[in-house]
This record gives sequence, structure tokens and C-alpha cells, in this order.
Amino acid sequence: MNREAPEPKAKNVRDPKKNPGFAGLVGEFNLSEAEIRGTNYVGERPKHGGHASVAGTLPYQVPDRDPEAPIFAGPYAERLEKILSRYPDPQAALLPALHMAQEIRGYLSPATLDEVAERLGLAPVYVRGVATFYTMYNLAPLGKYLIQVCTNISCNLCGADQVLEAFIEHTGTETGVVSENGLWTVMEVECLGACGFPTVVQINEKFYENIRPEDVPAVLERLT
Ligand code: FES
Repeated sequence: MNREAPEPKAKNVRDPKKNPGFAGLVGEFNLSEAEIRGTNYVGERPKHGGHASVAGTLPYQVPDRDPEAPIFAGPYAERLEKILSRYPDPQAALLPALHMAQEIRGYLSPATLDEVAERLGLAPVYVRGVATFYTMYNLAPLGKYLIQVCTNISCNLCGADQVLEAFIEHTGTETGVVSENGLWTVMEVECLGACGFPTVVQINEKFYENIRPEDVPAVLERLT
């Protein structure tokens, strides 16, 4: 019988047009960084904050949010039931339940945290511990625009402190408080995960990168 031996499968050979892999494989596939990561992700980023943030969190503090609105009624009761059905234990549903409460009321007051604790059958102190651990939960009302300036190491070395000062100056506010016109809340935050583009600023759900103090007035003007 004349059987031809099958061609040995080439190892680690992939079609470069499909899933070329991460930037570390540039050489192997003979592709440019722009071809792999997309032109939006290479070089100078647009100053108008053209892309979604990786740590995106809606501040939810928009004009139609009612801090007194019922959180577990009507369609929200149904939504909570669906959330609860995904987990073997109500404790595991705490993060989505808090997100839902924040979405409805705009922020999580101590009274709201207690309501969530009661509904899930958890100790209020446990719920407060969780809500205060994660920065995505707002524990006080926010301005229409939540401006989070990264002052961690990469951004700090590239002038993040001055960027933060510029935002404070041009919004006429202080960190963590709502400006008088209700538009701005400026916060200093830890690494936003875009260290290659310092200084990084997250405004609501968008990233603004390579921001320098002199860019700040234009960034604010575009938002209003
Ligand atoms: Fe600013 Fe990482 S240090 S994004």
C-alpha cells in the first residue's frame, strides 16, 4: 500500500489576517504596530476624547436621576430577580445590585446602601465595605461631568499634578465636590490603565490622553 505520510503541521503558524495576536508578535507576523493595534491606538491620541475608556463607569448623575426613586420596584424588581437568578447566593449579586441602585438614583447614599443590604439579606456594614472599596460607586452626588485625572506614576512623571490643578482652576471647583453650576466634579484617581499616554483623564465614559495643562480649557469647552 502506498500511503503518503501526512504533511507535518507547521507549528505556531497563523493566518496573519486573522487574529494576529498581541503587539509582542509584531516581528513574527511582519505587521506594523498600527496594523495590529489599529491606528486609533498608536501615536498621539485625539484631544477630544474619541474612544471609550477601559475602566468605563457611567457616573449616572444625569438630570433625570431621582435620589429618592424606588430602587426595587416595577421593571427594576424584575431586573433584580434576573440578576439574583444568576447566582447561587444573594451575596454574589451585590455588585450588580449596587450598579442598578446607582443607575436609578445617581449615587449611593448611606440610606440606599442600607436598602440594598436589606433586600439582599446582608449586613449593612458589609455592603458599605464593598461600596466604599470600588471607585465605580459614587457615594455622593456628582456633576454632569465626572473628571478623573490619573496622578499615578507614569502620568505623574509627565505633569499630572499640573493637569489636575488646571482642571480645578478652570472648573472653579475643588476635588470631590460638585461645581456651583452643577457641571463638574474633578477627582484624582489611581492608574487608569493607559500609562503609555500620560496624562490620562477619564471624563464620564471616555478617555482623554496626552493631556497637558494647556489643553484643559479646550477639553472643557468641547463638553459644554
Ligand atoms: Fe496614569 Fe497608568 S499611570 S494611566
